[in-house]
Amino acid sequence: MRPAPPLPVVRAPHFDLSTLPRWYNGGSVLATHLTNGLNFVFPAGERFFIRSVRFYLDRVQDPALKAAAMAFVAQEAQHQRAHLQAFAVLEAQGFEIRSYLDWYERLAYEVIEPRCPPSLRLAATAALEHLTAIFGELALGTELLEPTHPEMRRLLRWHAAEEIEHRHVAFDVFEAVDGRYLVRAVGMVVALTTLLGFWAVGTRHLLRQETERPPAEVESTAHARIRAFWWGVSGLVGRRLLSWFRPNFHPADAEIDQLAADYVGSMA
Ligand SMILES: [Fe+2]
Ligand SMILES: [Fe+2]
Repeated sequence: MRPAPPLPVVRAPHFDLSTLPRWYNGGSVLATHLTNGLNFVFPAGERFFIRSVRFYLDRVQDPALKAAAMAFVAQEAQHQRAHLQAFAVLEAQGFEIRSYLDWYERLAYEVIEPRCPPSLRLAATAALEHLTAIFGELALGTELLEPTHPEMRRLLRWHAAEEIEHRHVAFDVFEAVDGRYLVRAVGMVVALTTLLGFWAVGTRHLLRQETERPPAEVESTAHARIRAFWWGVSGLVGRRLLSWFRPNFHPADAEIDQLAADYVGSMA
């Protein structure tokens, strides 16, 4: 039997994003707005994760899993708070972001969410947690965030570490209250299509507002770096994604706890 993972630890680090440059990711417009586009989906997405897990909390019998679920909710609430700070920075830099956020939240939470049964919402949450754990592995185990401004890098690495810490929680709640393989598989389809769709539209929303561009060589170097990076990690990402569909899959199978432990151990 697999040992119970440690209880996720709730932390509330402070981030000062007030001096974040407009193109904080290696000076590149594309790399910066890909990061901003991902930031866009987090706060409302994390509210959805919390709703999906809380809905089933009364049905969780195992006290250790219940405690983990409550720690999960508390960690996600802290992530939301930190990412909302980045929205304020974008607005201070002159970006119009409310029309995108209103559209995203209306479509996701007034149209899609009410049409999905609670079990599918929980499966999609568990699947999104698998995707954020993959992001966590890339953020802490590769050079992905090296060109990013130090304060944004600190925020993303802290978030990444906690995504690794709690990666099993929504999955374990799903297994405890439902566990149907088909629902789990459909949950990943819903997770991937919504995440990639909302991320792409958010990135485009910001890119279209850019009237100035950095020097062409900065942008072409960044594009080459992004392409090389994704080629380099595509095998790992593909394996991790496909592992979700193994009937006996469990998020703790990926041996990535040390990445998170090393990072939180280094946090000031
Ligand atoms: Fe999170
Ligand atoms: Fe999470």
